Amino acid sequence: MKTFYITTPIYYINGKPSIGHAYTAIAADILARYHRMLGEEVMFQTGTDENSQKNVEAAKERDVKEYLDEMAALWERTFDSLGLTHNRFIRTTEVAHYNSVEKFWKTVESKGDIYLGSYEGLYCQGCEAFVNESDLVDDQCPHHKKVPKTIKENNYFFRLTKYRDDLLAYIDEHPDFIQPEARRNEVLSYVRNFMTDISISRETMNWGIPVPGDEKHRVYVWFDALINYLSGVGYVDDTTAFEKWWPANLHLVGKDIIKFHCALWPAMLMSAGLPLPKNVFAHGFFTIDGQKMSKSLGNTVDPVEMAEKYGNDVLRYFLFREIPFGGDGDFSEARLVGRYNTDLANELGNLVNRVLTMTEKYTNGTVPEVADGFLAGAWPSYHLALEENRLSDALDIVWGLIRQANQFIDQQQPWQLAKLEEKKMLNDTLYVLLETLRHIAWMLYPFMPTTAEKMFVQLGLETPKEFSQSFESAWVWGELKSGHKLAKGEPLFPRKE
Ligand code: MSP
Repeated sequence: MKTFYITTPIYYINGKPSIGHAYTAIAADILARYHRMLGEEVMFQTGTDENSQKNVEAAKERDVKEYLDEMAALWERTFDSLGLTHNRFIRTTEVAHYNSVEKFWKTVESKGDIYLGSYEGLYCQGCEAFVNESDLVDDQCPHHKKVPKTIKENNYFFRLTKYRDDLLAYIDEHPDFIQPEARRNEVLSYVRNFMTDISISRETMNWGIPVPGDEKHRVYVWFDALINYLSGVGYVDDTTAFEKWWPANLHLVGKDIIKFHCALWPAMLMSAGLPLPKNVFAHGFFTIDGQKMSKSLGNTVDPVEMAEKYGNDVLRYFLFREIPFGGDGDFSEARLVGRYNTDLANELGNLVNRVLTMTEKYTNGTVPEVADGFLAGAWPSYHLALEENRLSDALDIVWGLIRQANQFIDQQQPWQLAKLEEKKMLNDTLYVLLETLRHIAWMLYPFMPTTAEKMFVQLGLETPKEFSQSFESAWVWGELKSGHKLAKGEPLFPRKE
């Protein structure tokens, strides 16, 4: 069976999840569900980045581990309530992860890629990274609006520059490794012109994973965090699982952490003699009123609140229809309500309601004889879009079908056909519409699983709980059998004011 290993970044838990964090995780869920629908065995991993100093600061006087347990549980509960289907929720305070970091460190050290040096520079706690003077705006980190600290320490360094040529060659030979294109160019320029060896330990910290063999140092949080992608799938404790899942098919990340994932991480893997992930895809940022949303700025939108108010499916739909995946966007509740009323209530909801009402009226709620329909190239373009992580394009394709079906009703005017007793034409029209709805439900499943299931129920079909390869046949035209009984339900999206 084909496997698909997809990851999200692991999250800092010095606050509760914002809609920006949920965005990466929901995107991963959409792709995970899509690959399950293709019949693949999927490992969808997400989790928490717990060895950061900012988590320690957030714990204040409390016991740090106790604080982290509470926050990690909160994040996991949030992801569950958002309907995410991750298979593994990793925490970097897990023993397996500690052991993975130790093994990884020793492997890289034995390659001669770690050396002791001293470092003086500006450090931004928000980024958990050294920053250059030239990155600052008014002496502040532009992302976190804080003045970075000057740090002078003896640190262990990773020979990142040793891998410069190999990285450039790899990126050149694997055009799909970094996406989208703009991000690839950004990484290339960084690797070529700016990349230096990187400090991978902290001497002055009392939280984090101790450096093997020199316990007064702690491993730099990014060096530790990236290794989660290995520890989650058995790097130290399960060779069979590790061989099955590694290398990952897709690391989904925000554009702010592309250098870590596309330069540091591949170089670390090269040093450790491990294969590189097949694809790193960076999505954009969305803003609230044009401002970057962040815990440090305090202008976050709570995804749970949005989901409770509008439903998970509506939130998922809005995020991935409104913002082209890979680009930047702006979040606005008013636009969410707007799209709810136009796209969901008027277009999708109305279509389902009209078709089922007419079928009840004209054929007593049974599926007529099979007739030819108009799916044309929808499936191939839909698959291609998702293969290339173009989530909003995939939704555009589905909405193309929805509009086509609504227009088809207006053209055919089934009520006229009934009046004129054009039985064959009426039945054919209804069949085409019902079967199109079935295909639409399948296409919607990764994006709007609850809506898709409701559509399946209304079409009198089993809901796709378990996926297997045989589902490919479900996407063939004509699978909805004549004589089959429908089960019209409540409107899917009642209009909102
Ligand atoms: N802990 C690191 C990642 C380590 S991965 C080995 C980290 N954590 S984070 O909590 O700050 O961010 C996690 C993800 O959320 C990132 O992909 C980031 O880009 C994303 N987002 C946070 N705010 C966002 C928006 N406002 N918009 C879109 N994505 C945002 O970085």
